[in-house]
Amino acid sequence: MKAAETDGPRHLLSLLDLSAAEIRGLLALGQSMADGAGPARPLAGRTLGMLFTKASTRTRVSFEVGMYQLGGHPLMLSARDTQIGRGEGVRDTATVLGRYVDGLMIRTFEQAEVEEYAAHAGVPVINGLTDRVHPCQLLADLLTCRQVFGAEALAGMRVVYVGDGNNMARSWLHASTRLGFELVLCSPEGYRLGNLEVHRARNAGARVVEEDDPKAAAAGCRVVTTDTWISMGQEDRKAARQVAFAGYTVDDGVMQAAADDAIFLHCLPAYRGYEVVESVIDGPQSRIYDEAENRLHAQKAVLAWLMGGVELPT
Ligand code: CP
Ligand code: NVA
Repeated sequence: MKAAETDGPRHLLSLLDLSAAEIRGLLALGQSMADGAGPARPLAGRTLGMLFTKASTRTRVSFEVGMYQLGGHPLMLSARDTQIGRGEGVRDTATVLGRYVDGLMIRTFEQAEVEEYAAHAGVPVINGLTDRVHPCQLLADLLTCRQVFGAEALAGMRVVYVGDGNNMARSWLHASTRLGFELVLCSPEGYRLGNLEVHRARNAGARVVEEDDPKAAAAGCRVVTTDTWISMGQEDRKAARQVAFAGYTVDDGVMQAAADDAIFLHCLPAYRGYEVVESVIDGPQSRIYDEAENRLHAQKAVLAWLMGGVELPT
């Protein structure tokens, strides 16, 4: 049973749940975790329920290892093996799980579902990817940028996102909204983030521009990033999407158009020859494996903060 909390716990359902200072603090704490200088066992005796209705390699393993390293216990809950798969509703599931565990990490389709979990669980809920956003991935991506360019350089970066206007594109938009760096979105018509959404982000602080041509979009960018053209749940639209995204591959020409010290990021899994060519993703500018490793460090910061009461550095 959880102690009564007047204001309820904090959640991480979207990067917009965080202030700029909190994002910077999580990145600093994440770097301490990476350096082995984080707090020792702040989650001793605590359990994180990890609920998946979609596949995962990085998210599952990084949260599981992260909980172990913080002294806590991760509990894998697949929709298929629980009553969720037989139709038990979110409200009952969230309320009951919240009586057992100290935090929930959820990967699913609808953003509304993670919001409903947060409304009923009574413990911190962390979004491990929905169709809408992937905030933990963005913290890892920003931590990678911070390691390469330095903490002070983040707000002054120019980032280009080439490809599908999906959960990753939207998460980059949210990151720009909070940190104020320049974001160039480059997606084919019909696959862009909504005009209203981009307009609102701009009004809220994002420095975002849209550009049709990937090479023109990459000009002067220090970060070049993309994502799969076929996200989980879109497999039946594969053929149409491959046609629509032709010309939006990150290739050597795109990297040459970017800044000399540009890095390439991809959340993975990647499909070489589609959204990115092999010579880029496996080339000298690619930081994809540091980025994947940083899922562990950034999420340990999130877990220690939300579930362990660890304060963020200022
Ligand atoms: N990037 C990412 O979330 O990877 P997984 O789907 O393997 O968790
Ligand atoms: N956009 C991808 C990201 C995978 C980590 C998806 O949602 O499948």
